[in-house]
Amino acid sequence: MSSLPDQFHALVIGASGTIGTAFVDLLERSPRCASVRGLHRHSSPAIDFADESSIAAAAQALAAGPRYHLIVNATGVLHDGASMPEKRLADLNYSHMQAIFQANTFGPALVIRHFVRLLASERAIMALLSAKVGSIGDNRLGGWYSYRASKAALNMVVKTAAIEVARTQKNSVLVALHPGTVNSRLSQPFKGEIIGRPAHDAVTDMLQVIDALTPADSGSFRSYNGAELPW
Ligand SMILES: NC(=O)c1ccc[n+]([C@@H]2O[C@H](COP(=O)([O-])OP(=O)(O)OC[C@H]3O[C@@H](n4cnc5c(N)ncnc54)[C@H](OP(=O)(O)O)[C@@H]3O)[C@@H](O)[C@H]2O)c1
Repeated sequence: MSSLPDQFHALVIGASGTIGTAFVDLLERSPRCASVRGLHRHSSPAIDFADESSIAAAAQALAAGPRYHLIVNATGVLHDGASMPEKRLADLNYSHMQAIFQANTFGPALVIRHFVRLLASERAIMALLSAKVGSIGDNRLGGWYSYRASKAALNMVVKTAAIEVARTQKNSVLVALHPGTVNSRLSQPFKGEIIGRPAHDAVTDMLQVIDALTPADSGSFRSYNGAELPW
């Protein structure tokens, strides 16, 4: 992370997940990184998107600490114990859609709202994990209605917030990042172990992409290899 100041501070939200854990691990190993804070549903403070007030409370609790040069939001849900992604229109229902949108869109949007003020003024990046299947232009297979739509909506939130944040925090970069297919809890029911990469490989790539981003790139939707993805 040579573009960040020496002794930079990092925060990972969703640090209990497969990709979030790898971000914490690799950042801790970076000699230029002074501190890595990991938050999740059972950390102190905790962030649980089912409890809206926990997001503001966690940001408030961290406000007394250092400003962050890197904030990564690595939360996300594709399936839970109760439901799997929809294959067809007949599978759509409010309960699944609400749960997926709360986890993938509403929660990350409020993370931007409350944590953007904790970004360092000199150079700072806030990366929100999205997914290529949230690309409308790239949708060729259909299915996975809620997940696709929740990530497309997240991308719009990131783009819109980037425009607003640029007015007051000129050195900040907001980016929606696709990690590629990673072997994780989220991908496990969909052959993740066979077709997914180890999280450490994906995070190594994403840190390189993050490192190269400039304020002119704020509001973009990037893949783990740096390529801009269609909206
Ligand atoms: N894995 C892939 O192939 C892949 C591909 C494209 C995009 N992505 C994206 O990458 C990100 C990370 O995915 P992953 O593979 O690391 O999944 P994961 O291992 O299942 O981790 C998901 C993380 O999200 C947290 N989370 C879920 N619901 C939450 C809620 N309501 N409130 C707060 N935290 C919540 C989980 O917390 P708990 O530990 O408490 O459950 C966990 O920290 C997601 O945004 C996902 O959409 C992954």
